[in-house]
Amino acid sequence: MDFQELVERRRAYRALKPVEITEETVKEMAETARKSPSCFNNQPWRYVFVFGEKPLAEVKKALAKGNAWAQKASMIIGVFSKKELDCDIKGREYFLFDTGMATAFLQLKATEMGLVAHPIAGFNEEKAKEAMGIDPEMRLITLVIVGKHAEKPEDYLEGKQLETENKRPPRKEWDEFSFIDRVPS
Ligand SMILES: Cc1cc2nc3c(=O)[nH]c(=O)nc-3n(C[C@H](O)[C@H](O)[C@H](O)COP(=O)(O)O)c2cc1C
Repeated sequence: MDFQELVERRRAYRALKPVEITEETVKEMAETARKSPSCFNNQPWRYVFVFGEKPLAEVKKALAKGNAWAQKASMIIGVFSKKELDCDIKGREYFLFDTGMATAFLQLKATEMGLVAHPIAGFNEEKAKEAMGIDPEMRLITLVIVGKHAEKPEDYLEGKQLETENKRPPRKEWDEFSFIDRVPS
């Protein structure tokens, strides 16, 4: 699959059916994330891949109501870090940026593997950290919800969620966020 096709294929799908997750699945994703660039090669990203039946059920208790669809996840990846793990250049803190880049690599790898990898912000951070054994001083930046895309989203979703399942939410035009030579005043 070429790069553009991979980017097009990645979607934050919500209609998920079960898929088998193994240590090999985890290793493939982590190996891709580790190639990501980072400030001074600090590699501030940390991941906890939760797919055991009981641990996964515990993490699911931390999901926000609006993310009920994620109860069908076969794996939830906790993405965590803290500012001390990365550069702080006169107040420009890089831990979120670098962890975000590595997690983008990870999501694209999951897509290539035929999986859905949907990042969410809607969860109770304290509860999820507790369930995942993450140190309280870390920031749990996102949970990546992993599963297999279901053939019939209409059996799983309704309303706006079903609508966005079938059609990617609109994006700004490239020239709304990109400027050449100088940002116009
Ligand atoms: C940081 C972040 C937080 C998000 N939080 C949620 C969330 O809590 N629940 C949800 O259903 N989708 C969540 N999303 C998915 C976005 O809604 C989705 O990526 C966006 O609508 C674009 O759709 P697409 O990824 O399919 O192109 C989140 C995405 C990101 C990157």
